[in-house]
Amino acid sequence: MTTNETGDLRTAGVVQVLDVGCGVASFSAYLLPLDIHTMSFAPKDGHENQIQFALERGIGAMIAVLATKQLPFPSNSFEMAHCSRCRVDWHEDDGILLKEVDRLLRPNGYFVYSAPPAYRKDKDFPTIWKKLSNLTSAMCWKLIAQQVQTAIWVKPEDDLCRQQNAERKLLTLCEPEEDPVPSWRSPLRNCLRLNPDQPYFQKLPPRPERLSVYSRSLEKIGVTPEKFDKHNRFWREQVSEYWKLIGVNLTEIRNVMDMNAYYGGFSVALSALPMWVMNIVPATMSNTLSAIYDRGLIGAYHDWCVPFSTYPRSYDLLHTFHLFSHYKDHVEGCGIEDIMLEMDRMIRPQKDAVSLDHSNTLVKSTSLNVLDNRTWINSKMQCIRKFHITSCGRSFAITVTKES
Ligand SMILES: C[S@@+](CC[C@H](N)C(=O)[O-])C[C@H]1O[C@@H](n2cnc3c(N)ncnc32)[C@H](O)[C@@H]1O
Repeated sequence: MTTNETGDLRTAGVVQVLDVGCGVASFSAYLLPLDIHTMSFAPKDGHENQIQFALERGIGAMIAVLATKQLPFPSNSFEMAHCSRCRVDWHEDDGILLKEVDRLLRPNGYFVYSAPPAYRKDKDFPTIWKKLSNLTSAMCWKLIAQQVQTAIWVKPEDDLCRQQNAERKLLTLCEPEEDPVPSWRSPLRNCLRLNPDQPYFQKLPPRPERLSVYSRSLEKIGVTPEKFDKHNRFWREQVSEYWKLIGVNLTEIRNVMDMNAYYGGFSVALSALPMWVMNIVPATMSNTLSAIYDRGLIGAYHDWCVPFSTYPRSYDLLHTFHLFSHYKDHVEGCGIEDIMLEMDRMIRPQKDAVSLDHSNTLVKSTSLNVLDNRTWINSKMQCIRKFHITSCGRSFAITVTKES
């Protein structure tokens, strides 16, 4: 890997990392002081509650598995994918899982793989390694370092070699997607995507400059530089209003989720504080998650009609901006009550949720609490300590503090 003599990964251009099979997310904890932000994930398997431990350490992580579905992250988002003591069978099924990693890596992105030490004496390891080597060279990944059972490959910057390998029948290219959909519950694809944006390849600056960069992803979804500036200004002002509203000790907040993140302005307004933010883009909203990643932030697609892949009581602050009105008006099959039930599950006791929305939507959710004692929300009122609706900037906000 091309770092300078300090070995600092930032000097190799690494700003965002995907840690596959993260355990308790110690790699992310190591990278955080370098201002490298990591999306760590692992399944609920024999390693028990590893993601819960990660979240209790205040490190960003979610439950997910590389198996049959695409991961809920946009293409071309990470400068590095990492899998240490990794038990993923990358060599199986024609390398379909490697192709998913290829989708997620930015051009020139690194794949760092270290096999479990137990493999050292495994008689099958030479065969596994041979299969891995064949698959990665067909994908035009260049092996740039190898020591004991750790190897580092780099994804090519352009598609020339892949096109040649496809002509030589060494790999299958994906049919170009006319209108790429969010990778939410989509099956894995056993083919390699060419990068349609390659001619417009944008070299993004490191953080903190990346936080305010106007990216090609924004341009593609029709967000003008003026609209982007306005969004950022709005969130800087709005967030300072929030602190007045909630009256919290900011050092007590570590795990934050923005449940409808738009272009990530809320998260950027918090970026100087010792918190991390999971930016969620609902799969039914405009697909802004690439723009969020291009700002050096992390996040995932989700549909709030189903539970989020996390443990109960794992977030210190939940934020919803026009989420209730979106689901009320645009999504069949789940309502404000369902979303609030999920918020109640995710939020830690004595921590806050802040919602900013059209006043009539918020009044509806508060009046459900106050007036209608048959609804779920009213029964949950017993565990709500603070609940108020306030004029907050140009919209209305409610804050809810969950009781212990
Ligand atoms: C030996 S642990 C290593 C944990 C961590 N990377 C470290 O080095 O401390 C193996 C990890 O791989 C995860 N894992 C196994 N199969 C996986 C899959 N298909 N997708 C994602 N993670 C997987 C396990 O849950 C576990 O977190």
